Amino acid sequence: MIDLRSHYEAHGQGHVFAHFDSLSTTEQQALLEQAAAIDLSEIASLYESLVKGGGAKDDSLLEDLEPADYIPLPGHREDANASLWRDAVLKGEAALRTGRVAAFTVAGGQGTRLGFEGPKGTYGVTPVLNKSLFQVFAEKILAASKIYGRPVPWYLMTSVLNHEETVSFFERHDYFGLKAERVHFFTQGFMPAVDAEGRILMSGKGEIALSPDGHGGALRALVRSGSIRQMEADGVDILSYFQVDNPLVRCLDPTFIGFHLMNESELSSKMVPKAYPGEKVGVFCEKDGKTLVMEYSDLPPELTNATGPEGKLRFRAGSIAIHLFNRDFIDRIGGGDDEGARLPFHLAHKKVPYVDASGTRHEPETPNAYKFEMFVFDALPFARNPVVIETERSDDFSPVKNAEGVDSPRTCRDDQLRQFSRWAQAAGIDLRTDETGLPPFTFEVSPLFADNASRFKKAWDALPHKPVLTDGLVLV
Ligand code: UTP
Repeated sequence: MIDLRSHYEAHGQGHVFAHFDSLSTTEQQALLEQAAAIDLSEIASLYESLVKGGGAKDDSLLEDLEPADYIPLPGHREDANASLWRDAVLKGEAALRTGRVAAFTVAGGQGTRLGFEGPKGTYGVTPVLNKSLFQVFAEKILAASKIYGRPVPWYLMTSVLNHEETVSFFERHDYFGLKAERVHFFTQGFMPAVDAEGRILMSGKGEIALSPDGHGGALRALVRSGSIRQMEADGVDILSYFQVDNPLVRCLDPTFIGFHLMNESELSSKMVPKAYPGEKVGVFCEKDGKTLVMEYSDLPPELTNATGPEGKLRFRAGSIAIHLFNRDFIDRIGGGDDEGARLPFHLAHKKVPYVDASGTRHEPETPNAYKFEMFVFDALPFARNPVVIETERSDDFSPVKNAEGVDSPRTCRDDQLRQFSRWAQAAGIDLRTDETGLPPFTFEVSPLFADNASRFKKAWDALPHKPVLTDGLVLV
């Protein structure tokens, strides 16, 4: 104990133990465990380079930066090849039938922008039943398990801050019909928040202010938790990665999986053309023969707004955080075997309540703390044969990020309604929508009824008594 305390003092972090003697034995033990798990040299060097160094942008990154190429949807570009898309879906379906693919949700974030107490996956999003995000994904995974004749495993990454609540939510809802032994939870790593002087912040007298280490922490957490070995034992070699906030996502998309396999890719990604130049999404780029995602804030306005020959944005391939990872690739990167392939940390300036050395609690009104996070897309430059394919935004992406405005519960609900309406219209149902595609009333289609247009038509045609589409109707 003395050793750990003097180690902290030597690093200028002795205040972490300021109240140690007033804590109960259990609290002391908990603090010691937290403190022992922190690499103080790493924190000091991140503070030096990212906070003190001002997170200085490396302009050489922009030299010779080119837009990354992607596989365009049929009809979306002159060189688009529809037969390739037909081959891909067959390949992907075969992989799903042999049980090679697992679903993977990163759900360790804090969801501060939404301002919802509790794990974000428990937030209700569907238009009529207000089903939680977790339930929507569970039903999509259940539907895929039925279609392909194999129970699809589901891995979920939580954080120490929301793990117990997440697991008990699933238990309370009986895993939404999935087999409990097929749903695997594991927690991601954490990092302490520091103040402007690099001092570790305390969230209580005996508690360090910890936050999850970013979605990029998924790679090492998959390895550390043993999840990767579980996958191996189950014959799973591809992970279908999606975020907890996007109920539109095709959790297990055979076409995407097919392209991943046909190209022998280690890490594949989906893109949508940016809706407008300033849209806050990362952009797929290429540099020195490597694919990478450039954050919107790092792309200078002259590149953000640059247009090509047809007047289209040059850097238009927006990243929507949907990927396929090979298990071996995760092992290599997340296992730290390849020292050159460590994911960098990024800086976030946030409001973090804290207790000072005198024991007084502060609730800051402006950002007071720095957090360190890794981003999963930083793994891209290390991947062999990375593939980027285009997808329709309306069929894959409508995240719930903010309480109001763009990417809010309201926009997400409307996007679900538009999707259900398109499916209904394609099945020949007489449904009038407004110029944005919204129906005049609210209804809902369960993923267990259908999860795409062709399955909707099949399920609808098979109904012996067709209901009238009205307000509040739920097709299950
Ligand atoms: P966001 O970047 O939207 O962050 O996460 P967030 O924490 O959910 O929300 P804000 O920024 O506090 O409002 C994108 C996805 O990555 C996951 C989130 O759960 C979400 O699915 N994530 C993020 C993690 O799993 N761990 C992290 O450390 C950060």
